[in-house]
Amino acid sequence: MFETRVTKLFGMKYPIVGGCMMHVSKPEFVAAISNAGALGVMASAMYESQDEFRQAVRRVRDLTGKPFGVNLSLFPAIRPIDNDLYADVILQEHVPIVETSGHRPPEDLLARLKAGGVKTMHKCVSVRHALSAQKAGVEAVTVFGTEGGGHIGEVGLTTMVLVPSAVEALNIPVIAAGGIVDGRGLLAALALGAEGVTVGTRLLVTTECPIHEDLKRALASATELDTLPILGTLRNTVRAWKNPAALKVAELESKQADLGEILAVVAGTATKRMYEGGDLDAGVIPCSQSIGLVHEIRPVAEVIEGMVRQAAEIMARLG
Ligand SMILES: Cc1cc2nc3c(=O)[nH]c(=O)nc-3n(C[C@H](O)[C@H](O)[C@H](O)COP(=O)(O)O)c2cc1C
Repeated sequence: MFETRVTKLFGMKYPIVGGCMMHVSKPEFVAAISNAGALGVMASAMYESQDEFRQAVRRVRDLTGKPFGVNLSLFPAIRPIDNDLYADVILQEHVPIVETSGHRPPEDLLARLKAGGVKTMHKCVSVRHALSAQKAGVEAVTVFGTEGGGHIGEVGLTTMVLVPSAVEALNIPVIAAGGIVDGRGLLAALALGAEGVTVGTRLLVTTECPIHEDLKRALASATELDTLPILGTLRNTVRAWKNPAALKVAELESKQADLGEILAVVAGTATKRMYEGGDLDAGVIPCSQSIGLVHEIRPVAEVIEGMVRQAAEIMARLG
């Protein structure tokens, strides 16, 4: 069902990518997503050494025989990231798929990965960046609409506009991201010309997701009004769940506070206190406007299969 150039390229059963999520995309969770027929994607930036990253890649391999990917972050980061070090491990461990996200993927890095047999995709927020990634040599592009959870950038285009615009402009397959949480979103994205979807926020509210149960429950009762864009003053806009930490960041930005004060609130250590300790006010968590459509904590496989089933039912109903 729903075979596309993306499912053929990456080898997963369904045209669904489990979006990489910093501090969340641990090996067990990534493997659960791949085992459910979607594409699990690891977040390399979570690992501070090549050795830790290598162990995590091997753990995913132990837990799934299905395809999985690794994300290389090109975003500005508090801890400097050397993607060449991750690429060493990716090549040595024969990771099949790499996703870059952020600025234009460096051509030498892509060439190195492709020479090692790695398939590549890039995630960005505008058609201009998508074209530049296509030119740099990636095999698929994910375009990320402003309603999604994470780095939405400064362009402000919705998934509804961005996806068909990218489909018109590109030759390589387009994956839609931003606001897709169910079969309605999946089918809508396919109707817009996407050949796959990337889903982040919906997968946060699953049994296997390694975040605190209190946080999952709070997200499951959030509405479509409970997110806000923050960090626009740093030209690094992130859509986040509207909790006290995110509101604090917005307030500091409006007061043109010191960078140090803002960074203290968005620090990964604060987010980890929320993820691990269940302190819901402690840090900032990316979150989609479509969180308002997520009501239940369910197993990953039920979410993925439910999306595909619902999309097929709607398609049959529409004739
Ligand atoms: C909690 C969370 C953390 C994320 N972390 C990253 C990240 O580290 N790198 C990245 O490229 N995207 C990250 N994303 C974005 C997702 O990979 C995906 O593109 C996005 O969630 C899709 O939109 P949706 O949230 O509406 O499903 C994150 C998203 C969430 C919700």
